[in-house]
Amino acid sequence: MESSAGGARTGVRLFDDVRPDETDRAYLPGMSSAWKMPWYDVQSWWRRAGRLHRRTVELAGIAPGQHVLDVGCGTGNLALTVLREVPDAAVTGVDPDGAALRRAARKARRRRVRRRGSLTLVRGFADRLPAADASVDHVVSSLALHHVPLDEKRRFAAELGRVLRPGGLVTIADLDAPGHDHGGGHGGGHGGGHGGGHGHGSGHGDARDRGHDGHRHHEIGVNQHREDNADGGIQRLLTDAGLADAREVDRATFMDTPVMWVQARRP
Ligand SMILES: C[S@@+](CC[C@H](N)C(=O)[O-])C[C@H]1O[C@@H](n2cnc3c(N)ncnc32)[C@H](O)[C@@H]1O
Repeated sequence: MESSAGGARTGVRLFDDVRPDETDRAYLPGMSSAWKMPWYDVQSWWRRAGRLHRRTVELAGIAPGQHVLDVGCGTGNLALTVLREVPDAAVTGVDPDGAALRRAARKARRRRVRRRGSLTLVRGFADRLPAADASVDHVVSSLALHHVPLDEKRRFAAELGRVLRPGGLVTIADLDAPGHDHGGGHGGGHGGGHGGGHGHGSGHGDARDRGHDGHRHHEIGVNQHREDNADGGIQRLLTDAGLADAREVDRATFMDTPVMWVQARRP
């Protein structure tokens, strides 16, 4: 990937932070295979994911001019929502999927983000955030954590404690574990099942039919990493990393799938 793409002209920059020893590192992309990636935004639009992104920005309460990190930014839908809603925001998006980042950059240039702020897109992973110590006001993330294995999520949470300034906030929107759609309680079995392995083209992120009650449901993001979110899993992750006040702040249904918003603050 180029180290910079028309940065001065557009306010959009693209960097590669993948180390040579990480070039073969596996991850779960937004779509099951790279060639389907252009459909990600069509699918997002069709699923009205914009509401979820707007709610994330609203809950984060980002002030004008603040530095925001979007982890697992994909094609940039949450990052671009921040830039649309918050004047002069400096947004950095990080994601291992170079094709998704290039798409995010194209969208950002088309929408002329430089008039409203700046967007830096970094190819990298959640467990090594591209920001200096205590330099970030807000970390946001939508629908990405259930793509990340637990050990990497723990390193991500530790990174939050490093990059957030004291008082800085993390706001995470992610899918609750299958069968946990009632406020994070301990009810029921995990009804969604586990899909596929870990790596490119594994089928994650696709819609699945659930049908346990005889109706056809469209359930998204069924994979083993989503199970980690059960019973306050995200709150636990953040608390264990030393963040304060980790709590669920909202909950909604997205394509028949429970989504929760979890927030915490760096003390
Ligand atoms: C379902 S998409 C969500 C994209 C975007 N946040 C949105 O709301 O549209 C999940 C994203 O997580 C990214 N991802 C997967 N593994 C990751 C990791 N280890 N670190 C950071 N991002 C990761 C994928 O490449 C993908 O872009």
